[in-house]
Amino acid sequence: MTKYDTFDSVDRESTNMKLKLPQISDIKNKTVLVRVDFNVPLKKDDSGVLKVTNDERITASLETINFLLKHDAKVVLASHLGRPESARDVKYSLRPVAEYMKSVLGLPVVFSNECIGKNAQKEVFLAKKGEIVLLENIRFHSGEQENDAQFAKELSKLADVYINEAFSTSHRAHASIVGIPKHLPSFAGFALEKEVSTFTKMTEKPERPLVIILGGAKISDKVGAIEHLAKIADIVLVGGAVANSFLKAEGLEIYKSFIEDAPADLKKKNINYTDVACSLLEEHKTEKMLMNGYIPLPKIVYPIDVVAGHSLEEADPKKTEVIDLTKENGHHDKNLLYLDIGPNTVKLYQEIILHAKTVFWNGPMGVWENPVLANGSKKIAASVALSNGTTIIGGGDTIACATHFGLDKQFSYVSAAGGAALDFLSGKKLPGLVPLEDK
Ligand code: 3PG
Repeated sequence: MTKYDTFDSVDRESTNMKLKLPQISDIKNKTVLVRVDFNVPLKKDDSGVLKVTNDERITASLETINFLLKHDAKVVLASHLGRPESARDVKYSLRPVAEYMKSVLGLPVVFSNECIGKNAQKEVFLAKKGEIVLLENIRFHSGEQENDAQFAKELSKLADVYINEAFSTSHRAHASIVGIPKHLPSFAGFALEKEVSTFTKMTEKPERPLVIILGGAKISDKVGAIEHLAKIADIVLVGGAVANSFLKAEGLEIYKSFIEDAPADLKKKNINYTDVACSLLEEHKTEKMLMNGYIPLPKIVYPIDVVAGHSLEEADPKKTEVIDLTKENGHHDKNLLYLDIGPNTVKLYQEIILHAKTVFWNGPMGVWENPVLANGSKKIAASVALSNGTTIIGGGDTIACATHFGLDKQFSYVSAAGGAALDFLSGKKLPGLVPLEDK
C-alpha cells in the first residue's frame, strides 16, 4: 500500500446520492476554495519551459469557476499535480497551469507560491472579487496525503466556502478532500455532480443491454469494478493484460504474458488474481446475455484469440502471431507475451457492442501505442464511438488511446476520472463525496 492508497470507503447500498450544489446566495461576494484536479500532463517546449499538453481537466472545472466569478466571488483553486516525493520538486509545480489559464484561457489568475500560511493568505487577501488565485501543489506538504487536521485547518483559513470539483481525487481521504469540509460549508462542483449522476444512471437505470469493456495493464485497478459491474451489466468484455488472469483461470496457456502479483492481503490468504478470476467466472457462468433474443455467452467474456509477440516494442508484424485460443495446445514458444486481442475476438466484441444500448469502456485492449499491436484497441474504440447507444469512457489511458485514434469527441460522455470512477463503479462510497451529500 502506498501513501496514495488512503482509501477508507465503505460499500454503499445505492449509488443514488443527492449532492449539495452551490446556490448564488451561498457564494456571492464570498471567497470560495475550490478543490480541482489539475493533475494534467506537462511537457517541456523547445526552450525547456514546462507547458500543459492536455487541458481537459482544467476546462471541465470552468463551469463552476465562471459561475463563481460571475457572482463576484474570489476563487481560490487548490490542486495536486503528480506524486511529488519531496517538497518543492519543481517539475510538479502548478505554475505552468497558472500560465496556461492566463495566456490560453484568458482567465484572471494569480499564482501563489505557497498553499498555506501568511504568503498564501496575503495573495488571497490582495486578489479582487472576480479573480482567481491558484495555489501551489498541495502535495508539497505531507499533511495533504496524511489528512493532517492542522493542514486542513490552514487551507480552510483561506476561504468562507468550499467546493469539491475533483471527482477524480474523491477516492483519496486527503486533507483537501475530507479535512476542509469539517471547517467550511461544503458543496459539489457542477462537473463533479455530472460525473456522479452519469455513473449513477449507468449503474441504476441503464438502457439495456449494458455492455462493460474493461482492459488495460493492471487487474488490481479493475477487479472491484468487474465484481460489482458483473452483477449489473448484461455482459462484461475483458481485454488487455486484465484478460490474462481470466485465460489462466480457464486453464489456458499464457506463456510469459503479464499477470500482476496479488496485494499483501490476498497473498496472506494464499489467493492470487487467477483465483479471483476463477471465482468470478464460476459465479457468473450460468448467466446468459439477453440481446435481441438469446445469445449463449457467459456474463464475463474473455478473448478467443490473441496477438502474441516477444516484446511490447515489436516493430515487425511478421514477428507476431495470432494464437487461436480455442485450439491452444501449449506448443508455442515459451517466451511469448499476449499483447493484443486477436481478429476473431475483435469481431465477437464488435457484434456485442453493436447491440448495446449503453457501453462503458475503461482500459485498452492491447499495446495501442505500438502500431503493430494497436488493432484491437483501435477497432474496439471505433465500435464504441459508432454505437447508437449511450457511450461512456473513462481513465487517462483510455482517453489517450481514443484521442490517439481521433475518436475522443465521439462518445456521449468522457470521464476525467480513472481510479475514482473505478472505485465508484465497485459500489463504494467515495470518502470525498460524503461531506457533499444533501441528506
Ligand atoms: C488521477 O490522475 O487519477 C487523479 O489526479 C488522482 O491522482 P493520484 O492517483 O495520484 O491520487
